Amino acid sequence: TTESPTAMRRLLPADMVDRQRCPFDPPPGLERRRGDGSVQPLPLLNGAQAWLVTGFEEARAVLADSRFSSDRVRHRDATRMQPHEVAERAAAAERGEVQTGESGAAQAVESRSDGMFIFMDPPEHTRLRRLLTGQFTVRRMRALESRVTEIAAEHIAAMQAAGTEADLVPAYALPLPSLMICELLGVDYADRAEFQEHTATSLNVNTSDEERARAGAELYTFIQRLVADKRATPTDDLLSGLIHDADPPLTDAQLVDIALVLLGAGHETTANMLGLGTFALLESPDQLAALRANPDLIDNTVEELLRYLSIIQLGVTRVATENVTLGGVDIPAGATVVLGTPEANRDPQQWSEPDRLDLHRPRAPHLAFGHGVHQCLGQQLARIEMRIGLSELFTRLPRLRLAVPAEEVALRNDMLIFGVHSLPVTWT
Ligand code: HEM
Repeated sequence: TTESPTAMRRLLPADMVDRQRCPFDPPPGLERRRGDGSVQPLPLLNGAQAWLVTGFEEARAVLADSRFSSDRVRHRDATRMQPHEVAERAAAAERGEVQTGESGAAQAVESRSDGMFIFMDPPEHTRLRRLLTGQFTVRRMRALESRVTEIAAEHIAAMQAAGTEADLVPAYALPLPSLMICELLGVDYADRAEFQEHTATSLNVNTSDEERARAGAELYTFIQRLVADKRATPTDDLLSGLIHDADPPLTDAQLVDIALVLLGAGHETTANMLGLGTFALLESPDQLAALRANPDLIDNTVEELLRYLSIIQLGVTRVATENVTLGGVDIPAGATVVLGTPEANRDPQQWSEPDRLDLHRPRAPHLAFGHGVHQCLGQQLARIEMRIGLSELFTRLPRLRLAVPAEEVALRNDMLIFGVHSLPVTWT
């Protein structure tokens, strides 16, 4: 599911995703572009013309408008266009013609697979989305909540047992969401090490493309087996629930896709919010002290970190299916629209002193989970994981601090989902 954002990453200038200057602030190239307007043309490195949206209201309007499609495959967004298509579309735009990906002359055959609802529009999206929201029940969320607490405590105890220093990413930030997805999907305890190994390798940027591809293929086989097991012997989990509740029934291919969407959308995102969120709090001692003094601030802390860090930098995109005027700017049919969420979430029209991390900030809607029909399906779970993950960490390790100077923390500057590759921490 991360295929599209990764492809988009290669088409963007480095200064739009690189946070070398400050890991918590939007990339300088993105911040600078906001000065040119809340909606503006964005030339991509393959020559295609995309549009960048940095204003909060405009970004929210895109996500609420059915003329902007999530079906980047059918509409061939800029990451899927061949060089001659880029040229043809540019020429058509020059002539003032409307040309969407669908009616484009050179249409390569590429099909989105059956259950990738993150890439679907209503009404096709609606059925799968409803089936899934039906599985995120209050009862299931409560059960997950008590499991996160146990898993967090176990991992902190293991860190303490091993010494007074650890890399928080592999020791805590990655396993927490990974094990929560195991809980959600109903992966057996005996199989969890294998699942975690495949997912970790398929995400590891320090390994070769072949290694990652192999791990990805193994993960796929693992999920196929899981779906077959749940069909044969249903248990009390989301996959079994989907098998039982869907009428007409879902195919195995759909179930595998759905499991992969949940994994793809719920693992790296939450892990990076835990890693980068911890880093940000350690680097804001006054804010951390306020949280320690008043643990009830944790819900606010989670929302403010989501807004302030906006780790999904430019990963939310849409394709215009017709000519649309947005914020006074004409966007032609067929154009790819890229949301600059880190800037939209610091729009001064929406927040006062937007560049400050302020845990006492009054609640206001932000776009870290998106908006509209695709708004993050896992946000309840993500909030539970962040709330408990952060509170357990700072409560059980009251003297937690960085083990290296802040400048030496390895940042995910090469990624559309920002965060830290590793976070060396120490405690006494
Ligand atoms: C969608 C962010 C955690 C599952 C989204 C979208 C955003 C987002 C921005 C909208 C994408 C779009 O409109 O194109 C985040 C962040 C997370 C997080 C920042 C962590 C802090 C999770 C978790 C899960 C999850 C834990 C599930 C276990 C999904 C799914 C979608 C989605 C399935 C697609 C929904 C749809 O297309 O209808 N997420 N997410 N996310 N998220 Fe999350």
